[in-house]
Amino acid sequence: MGAKPTYLLHDGELVPYADAQLHVLSTSTKYGVGVFEGFRAYFDDEAGELYAFRVADHMRRLVASMRVVGIDGPADVDQLEEQLLGLIRANDLHEDLHMRAQVFVDSPDGKPDDTGPATVFMAAIPMGRYFDRPGLNVQISSWARISDRSMPPRVKSIANYQNGRLALLEARRNGYDAALLPTVDGHVSEGAGYNVFMVRDGKLCTPPVTESILEGITRDSVLQLARTELGIDVTERPIDRTELYSAEEVFVCGSAAEVSPVSSVDRIPVADGEPGELTRQLQDLYRRAVRNRVAADRGWAQPVYAPAAVAR
Ligand SMILES: Cc1ncc(COP(=O)(O)O)c(C=O)c1O
Repeated sequence: MGAKPTYLLHDGELVPYADAQLHVLSTSTKYGVGVFEGFRAYFDDEAGELYAFRVADHMRRLVASMRVVGIDGPADVDQLEEQLLGLIRANDLHEDLHMRAQVFVDSPDGKPDDTGPATVFMAAIPMGRYFDRPGLNVQISSWARISDRSMPPRVKSIANYQNGRLALLEARRNGYDAALLPTVDGHVSEGAGYNVFMVRDGKLCTPPVTESILEGITRDSVLQLARTELGIDVTERPIDRTELYSAEEVFVCGSAAEVSPVSSVDRIPVADGEPGELTRQLQDLYRRAVRNRVAADRGWAQPVYAPAAVAR
């Protein structure tokens, strides 16, 4: 992460960075109740514009997350989107950013079943690449991904992140860059902060949304870019661990992770360990899409400073 911004947003109001606080005895801090979103914005030198990527889709997922975990919070997606864009403008940021929106329950009694009052924080912080290497060495974790019978993996509940954190700590202890978690049935689900794709027998595949994954927005962007820009078929189907050992290509993707090639799984090289052709193509398409150079008709990349955007 880069330098601290001057302002954060708390319930729609600009507050100095140090003043964005939550009480230690709130329902959220006591019981791990909270939901969040992580998004990115990209500065395009040629256009002289900052583009925020799929903010409305992220805000829709934030609202869905509140519904699933039981938080009575704001549901006006347009207003949430405008607040986040306004925060970026207030900080006068003109570089690649990572943004967060977080919703907590800050009730006076701090009971575990309190659903409100909700309090919303937003932040926009300069950020470059998430992974500092071109190909990741990934471990299949000994921790299973949470299942929809215990915790809701499809939404961004803060409590879910203990699961990915344990997997990541284990992977780091063992000298890996990243972790992928199996479902309780042993299929490949997703990583600690990223969805996963593989190319096997020339076919691009990713686990379906019923395989204990977060319903990733980058995953959806990759699916759409592959299908429409490259005109290829993508299969959403369960993936076994050992399929990754014989795949031609593997990559992970997420708002922070972007499209990141995987070089090895459990120390077994993916093909020759170099990023594959399809991975490179999708990485390039994604990098252009976030700067509004590809798939612009979808309205994914939202100009932050264009007069029309400011006047909205
Ligand atoms: C567990 C998990 N899976 C997948 C993703 C990718 O989701 P998205 O592309 O919406 O950022 C994330 C990213 O936040 C994540 O935390």
